[in-house]
Amino acid sequence: PAQLEQIKKDVLAVRGRVAAERDLQTVPPRDQPLQAGFIDLPQKLLDAYRRRQDASELGKLLRIAQRLREEAGRVVVLGIGGSYLGAKALIDALCHSYHNEMPAQLRLNRPRIYFEGNNVDNDTLHELIELLDNTLVDPDIPEERWALIVISKSGGTLETAAAFRVLWRELARCYGAKSELLRRLVVPVTGPKGKLREWFQAEGYGEEEILTIPDDIGGRYSIFTPVGLLPAAVVGLDVRALLQGAAAMTKRFLEESFERNPVLQFAAVNYLMTEQLGKPIRVLAVWSRKLEAIGWWYDQLLAESLGKQGRGATPLTVVNTRDLHSRGQQHQEGSRDKLINNLVVKTPRHPPVILGMAEHNEDDLNQFSRKGYPDLLEAAYAGTMQAYWEAARPTADILLPTLNEYTLGQVFQMLMLATVVEGRLMKINPYGQPGVEAYKANMMRLLKATPNLPKGDTAGTP
Ligand code: PA5
Repeated sequence: PAQLEQIKKDVLAVRGRVAAERDLQTVPPRDQPLQAGFIDLPQKLLDAYRRRQDASELGKLLRIAQRLREEAGRVVVLGIGGSYLGAKALIDALCHSYHNEMPAQLRLNRPRIYFEGNNVDNDTLHELIELLDNTLVDPDIPEERWALIVISKSGGTLETAAAFRVLWRELARCYGAKSELLRRLVVPVTGPKGKLREWFQAEGYGEEEILTIPDDIGGRYSIFTPVGLLPAAVVGLDVRALLQGAAAMTKRFLEESFERNPVLQFAAVNYLMTEQLGKPIRVLAVWSRKLEAIGWWYDQLLAESLGKQGRGATPLTVVNTRDLHSRGQQHQEGSRDKLINNLVVKTPRHPPVILGMAEHNEDDLNQFSRKGYPDLLEAAYAGTMQAYWEAARPTADILLPTLNEYTLGQVFQMLMLATVVEGRLMKINPYGQPGVEAYKANMMRLLKATPNLPKGDTAGTP
């Protein structure tokens, strides 16, 4: 109890500090960079849209999304890290699980979506190009065309830049270099400065055609900038409801007591477990396959924000019940170094799938004939929690009443705010990721040092 009372006081003090940082660009010591713009962004975007509609940033984004929907049946999104995982998490969670496989009508004519530029994988890129080429039956039919969204805040990330170079060349081949159509099919999302913006400016793109990631928002905190919102809007997600959920969470964070404040509670529990109770492994157990990419997004948020100065919990995503059959053994009986945070959706989006009676009862399931999948999940969850409780394995729960844009807006904002609070409790700057630079510098040096392919020896290059 004494520890709890102390952590309550500490998180409340940190909340005041985080709130104050919203008006600053840097903080001592040593003028650490701040990127606290994400805290107020959702409300700002909504307010500007209410006042200025089409002339606002959100209005511009919705217009561009609509254009891509009308112009193409497939959209490839290029980006890595914070410029990839948010959009992936939103789309996986909220679109039909088989969105890309659905015929156009069942997708409500919303484009199929592909992610690239998040790796340097020769074969997946090659195969994506093969797929896109094979859909080129008639470039005059929008459903058979493909489009490109290229996302990089710095504009200098090699994975994204390389994929963009290759896919731009492909697009130009399909629709004609310098053609008006080509322009309508490519949308850049980038920071106020940088090579990518310069590239598009050189290509003749005006401000109206480039979506900007604000300077005061870091990559992994950028899900509610065009980085996450544009791909979400392209597939028809309700981006205003997302922003409303996020804005509501910011308000709750700033105004509510500890007892009614999910951000402060999550930060406090996780900080205590990692820093004071010897649990360096932080498991995010998502109880739906649709939420797996939220886990990947949180992996990055936590690892890049707090994995500094030899410290920071190690994130690990599991999807249950799938991973109860792989990692479950270790979580039940292995080393006592874990906190398990559950992310659970209480009510599914679709009516329950019922087991039903069967003529052959060798599987002994007729006893559950009137049960549905939600009942199975509930029993699995409650059974697992009981087993953890009896073995003194700590858990914490994030419960969503249902899965929609509003509730997910709340979750993403909650996890970003809690990570910043945790960083401040640890006295670690949660913004910036200086450690990532090491591999980038080495990769560039090695690339420059190795010889190019001889001219003419590019057989098989798409
Ligand atoms: O969180 C971050 O800042 C990083 O993960 C970046 O998002 C990632 O490195 C991609 O950077 P950029 O958008 O500049 O290409």
